[in-house]
Amino acid sequence: MNYITIALAKGRLAELSVDLLEQAGLNVSELREKTRKLIFTDEENKYKFILVKASDVPTYVEYGAADIGIVGRDTLLEARKDLYETINLGFGSCRMAVAGPKELAGKLDQIHNMRVATKYTQIAKNYYHLVKKQSVEIIKLHGSVELAPLVGLSEVIVDIVESGKTLKENGLEVLEDVCDLSARFVINRVSLKMESERILSLVNKIKELLKQ
Ligand code: PRP
Repeated sequence: MNYITIALAKGRLAELSVDLLEQAGLNVSELREKTRKLIFTDEENKYKFILVKASDVPTYVEYGAADIGIVGRDTLLEARKDLYETINLGFGSCRMAVAGPKELAGKLDQIHNMRVATKYTQIAKNYYHLVKKQSVEIIKLHGSVELAPLVGLSEVIVDIVESGKTLKENGLEVLEDVCDLSARFVINRVSLKMESERILSLVNKIKELLKQ
């Protein structure tokens, strides 16, 4: 029997993903060990798990190096890969929002060539160009995005808001909602055909668990 490989996003979603796979009957004991290993095996059920940077999960699944990925919707929207998205796993739920100083509330449409700092340039472009039909300058950052409006790099940011604590502690607030986010279960299209029985059985187990 071939191994089925699941790519898990390191970071916030990792532990919840491992819990879910365990509940679905996979042996995740190797993943629970505190090691620096990146590849883990469930010999009994013939699964491999790889731990990768969240933004790389869609790439591993697209090329078939992983058959399945568990990753946030933000990462999927940003990556724009042709993957089969089957389940909204519900956990890791948060939202993508436009945030800035509260003085800008209700005035965003009037700012000419507004500068928008973000890690999520595709999501921001899609929102401003296609949804709002507003011309803005998108500035790519790699982290600590909340800093940008505080030092005059941009008027607003497009970023993930979970508890809202980071915004609050930096004197910013949500000005517009972009979309809801949560963890998703995605499948490589060829893997789905080649291993449909085993993959769909896992999908169905997870769907059952989510109903409880
Ligand atoms: C994310 C996001 C916000 C923060 C939101 O950052 O970019 O900064 O979490 O969470 P909160 O609403 O609960 O405060 P992350 O921790 O991924 O760090 P980074 O932006 O510096 O990469």
